[in-house]
Amino acid sequence: MQLIRYSLFIISILFQCSGYAQSARVREDFDNNWTFHLGEVAHAKDLDFEDAAWRKLNVPHDWSIELPFDSTSPTNNGGGALRGGLGWYRKTFTVPATDKGRIIYIDFDGVYRNSEVFINGHSLGMRPNGYISFRYELSQFLNYGGRNVIAVKVDNSQQPNSRWYSGSGIYRNVWLVKTGTTHIENWGSYVTTPSVSTSSAKVTVTTSLTGTGEYCDVTTTIVNAAGAPVGTQTQKGLHIGSLQTLPQTFSIAAPVLWSLENPYLYKAVTKVMSKGKVTDEYTTTFGIRSYKFDGDKGFFLNGKQVKIVGVCNHHDLGCLGTAVNTRALERQLQILKGMGVNGIRTSHNPPAPELLDLCDKMGFIVMDEAFDMWKRSKTQFDYSKDFDEWYKQDLKDQVLRDRNHPSVFIWSVGNEIPEQHAKEGDTSGVAYLREMQRIIRGLDDRPTVTANNHIDNNNQLLKSGINELIGYNYHHESWTPDAVQQTWGHKPFIVTESVSAIQTRGHYDMPSDSMRMWPQRWDQPVKNANTDLTCSAYENCYTPWGATHMATLKTFLKYESIGGMFVWTGFDYIGEPTPYPWPARSSYFGIVDLAGFPKDVYYLYQSLFTTKDVLHVFPHWNWKPGQLVDMWAYYNHADEVELFVNGKSQGIKKKAGDDLHVMWRVPFEAGKVEAVSRKNGKVVATQVIITAGEPAKIILQADRNAIKGDGKDLSFVTVKVVDKEGNLVPDAANKIQFKITGPGFIAGVDNGCQTSLESFKGSEHAAFNGLCLAVVQSNGKPGIIKLQAQSAGLAAAAIDIMGK
Ligand code: GAL
Repeated sequence: MQLIRYSLFIISILFQCSGYAQSARVREDFDNNWTFHLGEVAHAKDLDFEDAAWRKLNVPHDWSIELPFDSTSPTNNGGGALRGGLGWYRKTFTVPATDKGRIIYIDFDGVYRNSEVFINGHSLGMRPNGYISFRYELSQFLNYGGRNVIAVKVDNSQQPNSRWYSGSGIYRNVWLVKTGTTHIENWGSYVTTPSVSTSSAKVTVTTSLTGTGEYCDVTTTIVNAAGAPVGTQTQKGLHIGSLQTLPQTFSIAAPVLWSLENPYLYKAVTKVMSKGKVTDEYTTTFGIRSYKFDGDKGFFLNGKQVKIVGVCNHHDLGCLGTAVNTRALERQLQILKGMGVNGIRTSHNPPAPELLDLCDKMGFIVMDEAFDMWKRSKTQFDYSKDFDEWYKQDLKDQVLRDRNHPSVFIWSVGNEIPEQHAKEGDTSGVAYLREMQRIIRGLDDRPTVTANNHIDNNNQLLKSGINELIGYNYHHESWTPDAVQQTWGHKPFIVTESVSAIQTRGHYDMPSDSMRMWPQRWDQPVKNANTDLTCSAYENCYTPWGATHMATLKTFLKYESIGGMFVWTGFDYIGEPTPYPWPARSSYFGIVDLAGFPKDVYYLYQSLFTTKDVLHVFPHWNWKPGQLVDMWAYYNHADEVELFVNGKSQGIKKKAGDDLHVMWRVPFEAGKVEAVSRKNGKVVATQVIITAGEPAKIILQADRNAIKGDGKDLSFVTVKVVDKEGNLVPDAANKIQFKITGPGFIAGVDNGCQTSLESFKGSEHAAFNGLCLAVVQSNGKPGIIKLQAQSAGLAAAAIDIMGK
């Protein structure tokens, strides 16, 4: 009797616990333990398909980055000369019997492209768009207490379908979400701040709930960054039918406003209670800020005029390919912040959610872009084919997913859309734009824009007046308020894209070589006199539609009416090596190279847009005796710079008018160049460059010597080839071999050279202009990771990275 009573007690405890456990939301990282096969396989969707021989891997995964560069790839070098193809992923998992009755979803942050997802052999759906996040419900197909298989077919075989490197596969994170029957919808909360001041803010949290008719209490608590509740609202006894929307309003006293300097974040935690139990809990991160775009005075954040100094970036992460990694994104943003960038354009597609989370936390202004084309194509097999069927859903999902991010300020519905011009009387562009604007207005009130490269008054998208913002790509001569307003009326104006200058880090044409621009003929790409397929770091190579950084910046700084601009591009990216042919396979447009090493022009921006004392003199000091060398300097906070060669003054230079740099033309003589900047006679900064001798040794410098042992975290190790005195050898191209021991692996290697055909995934790589990069990734265990680097004829080096 005693035993029976005891057993009943235990059972009732278990029941209550499982009842509780069953009810609250679980969001599991579903990235590990997938199998992968490149190529079509019959029956791979089936539960009992035998995949033991398939490769085991964790996602995010980009299979294209693992393939060799290939001049015959149908992606061509615009797509990075890396092949697409068709691949299958499978993941076997169990779901406990106690989950029966819960609602279970699988969320994909992004799969490139044409994915079809199967659960236990049932097709859940297809999604052509490679950049959109999507969800399927699994509940009714699962074997509870048994084995289940998710299979994903990814078809990126039709090529070309992109103007840049897209990557292939499940290249973003995957999540398994479990909730109670009554729960909050996917992206089912919307936080707005209808009134904002430093003394108080009104915050509205609108929650979309779904269920099967239970009565629920819904409580939302606003929590500040320190974790303290600052407001709570409860609605009791709500009858949740198939879908219900609940607005809850809060008044927050003395809110800390989200700003670029202090990106302060609040959380709205919403709990759904049914019969005394929590059936779902959902947290939304948000910021409290006000903003305005103004036709005369540009952009205001919290009442303060701010110029958006933005860059466009594509989604690849250099040698990691497109497989998303939070640390790699964070490093990119840190490097950009270091040069004074405060804006990101997610060209030309919805980004990984982690990018927006980071922009929220780090203080960036994001232009969140939807499409690179609508119905009229740019490449043969691109999204234009899916556009009519999918654009409404894709756009809606993008806005629903991203609208709570305080970093997002602008929706761009298209880049250089061919429908800008009505073709043969086809005015569908305006109809599409109107429909997109209608979709967005139904969900959010941020302004919309299209990035227009045609700015004449035949542009039917601009003429329609539908967007709140006027956006120009390039055409800096037409950015004056008069020119913009005469054509388009009194509307706020931003430069959605600018510059497109081409440079290779550490490569310098001398003045005689370099006084040239892009050739006007497509079939005669620029050839560099010194080294084919590299381009000067001096400011003189740019596309016919673009302009130099300097010319662009001068115009940008001159007009208060320009709210912001997004330079093409922050980082070099894989693909689009315009204007160069194979073997060029990555772009030259970045201010920072593909490996993350800044090009010289980085310091021009730093001198203008940061508070740091900047003096950057270039190029290096290794030339032929007597050769005339143009020495340039970018500087700030000083009124003059003096240059010395081997102690001899070459004169004092001062920027005049709107100059952004100074220059000396000096004959080379081996030894030491020294630059000194001064303000009122007082030294502000100095820089010394010494003629380097022969390569003698390797130096390793990790951006972080301790990383999380979580299988995802990264340390970016810069490899420098230096002479025996430790001076960087500016043309060193030594082949470096890496060896790694301990709980880590080499996730990628690169040197930033656009024409290198060495694999990003190897364990060796040549240096380029003295530098190379090895990216070390934790394998999920703690311990010391040792990276060794050696090269014939050089003293080797090693570095320890602590995985914690
Ligand atoms: C722009 C385009 C970008 C990129 C750039 C290269 O016109 O919007 O995607 O192709 O040119 O200069």
